[in-house]
Amino acid sequence: MADRPGGPATFPRPVLAANWKMNNGPAQAKSFVDAFLQEYAARNDRTIVVFPPALSLPAVAAGVRGRTDIRVGTQNIHWAQKGAFTGEISAEMARDAGASLVLVGHSERRHVFGETDDMCAKKCAAAERAGLAFMLCVGETLEQREAGATESVVLGQLEAGLSGLRDLSTVNLLLAYEPVWAIGTGLNAKPGDASAIHALLRSKLHDIVGERAAAIPILYGGSVNDGNARVLLAAPEVDGLLVGGASVEVASWLRISGVP
Ligand code: PGA
Repeated sequence: MADRPGGPATFPRPVLAANWKMNNGPAQAKSFVDAFLQEYAARNDRTIVVFPPALSLPAVAAGVRGRTDIRVGTQNIHWAQKGAFTGEISAEMARDAGASLVLVGHSERRHVFGETDDMCAKKCAAAERAGLAFMLCVGETLEQREAGATESVVLGQLEAGLSGLRDLSTVNLLLAYEPVWAIGTGLNAKPGDASAIHALLRSKLHDIVGERAAAIPILYGGSVNDGNARVLLAAPEVDGLLVGGASVEVASWLRISGVP
């Protein structure tokens, strides 16, 4: 089902999301999609999401056209609609290039590029303005974890990220819990630990959006691969996976996409 601007989109769960980061330019993206679609038949018991680099959005969107089980998202947006922001793209531009959702607050954006909670809030609001769904990422650093601050950090990021939205009753929202210490490190949260944080996030979501919280997918991310995907996905409250390194090669992504 296509996203409806202003209306809640449904994301059959699990949601399996590929964050290619700065990998797979337009030509490679096209080859990836062609190879993926040859092997991956549509299924209605899950949603596949691909976040290519912005330049590869049109190739991916064109490749998956007609496949309502596969969503295409952009990895980052600026909050303004247009203007003097060299190097940036707006939510509207991403939408026009074929994106139906946006990743907001990925830890590399926060920690490598200095994105603050305030910027994340503006980006979530920009996605809402453009009629895009967004996936807000939250997660603690190793230092914060060791200081016992995990819960306050992720809840603070969630609350701040949603603080600028106009209409919480219609906004299309997904969450991703990505402990920073687990991203690209080969270390992943234990399924039980992920479940506990997801339950906490769900309860805060309930405070913010009420009953709709139950339908909002909460994904786990951080060193997910085809060896650990199944057990993480089986954990209570884990509604999907956000996968970086293991999503860049089509063979590995096919195995994760088909996890029972
Ligand atoms: P990783 O990245 O799977 O390579 O750890 C996950 C992410 O950054 O979304």
